[in-house]
Amino acid sequence: MIKVERLTASIGAEVAGVSLGDASRDAALFAEVKALLLKHRVLFFRDQDLSREEHVAFASRFGKLEDHPVAGSDPEHPGLVRIYRSEAKNPYENNYHTDGLWRPNPSMGAVLRCVECPEVGGDTIWVNMVEAYKQLPEEVKKRIEGLRAKSSIEHSFGAAMDPEERRKLAAQNPEVEHPVVRTHPETGEKILYVSSFTTHFVNYHTADNVRYGLDKTPGASLLLNYLQSQASIPEYQVRFRWKPNSVAVWDNRSTQHYAVMDYWPAPRKMERAGIEGDRPY
Ligand code: SIN
Repeated sequence: MIKVERLTASIGAEVAGVSLGDASRDAALFAEVKALLLKHRVLFFRDQDLSREEHVAFASRFGKLEDHPVAGSDPEHPGLVRIYRSEAKNPYENNYHTDGLWRPNPSMGAVLRCVECPEVGGDTIWVNMVEAYKQLPEEVKKRIEGLRAKSSIEHSFGAAMDPEERRKLAAQNPEVEHPVVRTHPETGEKILYVSSFTTHFVNYHTADNVRYGLDKTPGASLLLNYLQSQASIPEYQVRFRWKPNSVAVWDNRSTQHYAVMDYWPAPRKMERAGIEGDRPY
């Protein structure tokens, strides 16, 4: 029997009594998991002795899997991105982000399995961005209605690259434009849709917003910073402590996440199947 325990008042549930391997083969069981996902936005499963084939097969039920231009995929399992942090190199993360916001069609969701984790530390935080939108003051909701913003991979994944490599990454992944408030394609909910990949608004500089030329830059960037900071509000969050074979499944359209970087030099190995999304509107 499936048991669902909500982890916070806002977001996240732990699900027991489900084998994701079975769900990869059973359409009815998968449909139950998907319905729970739309409700809780991120689901956690413990003790999933999931093979890589089953991991890919389960995630593929949501849609086509995507590779990542910087993080490498498992060569035998395309679409299964390796997020391996080892003691050899002081790793750095992180920012609250929506996976693939720099893509024209950012990820719909992801299935993340813990292969190895530190005894303590290395948790991941997810944020309910529907709640973040709902709780904005009405005057801010009015200000951001119809606003659009650019997102780019260059200033995050490209920052540690040499300039030539960075330019190549940017040329292969040109910046994209998305609405600042998107609509969830399955539930119709409104979502605050800027994250650390967002660089600037593209239609802020209008007579209503800018009285004099110098208003533009600080006005726009202060508003963007304010919107980006909403993801760090604890009332919208859930924090998950990993164990090997724990799996998280999240709806990447209505959430952001943050992998807490407090465990170095202990190793942490995760494998993520990211699922292609549609064009935000
Ligand atoms: C991610 O940012 O998609 C991975 C999160 C994690 O490693 O906990």
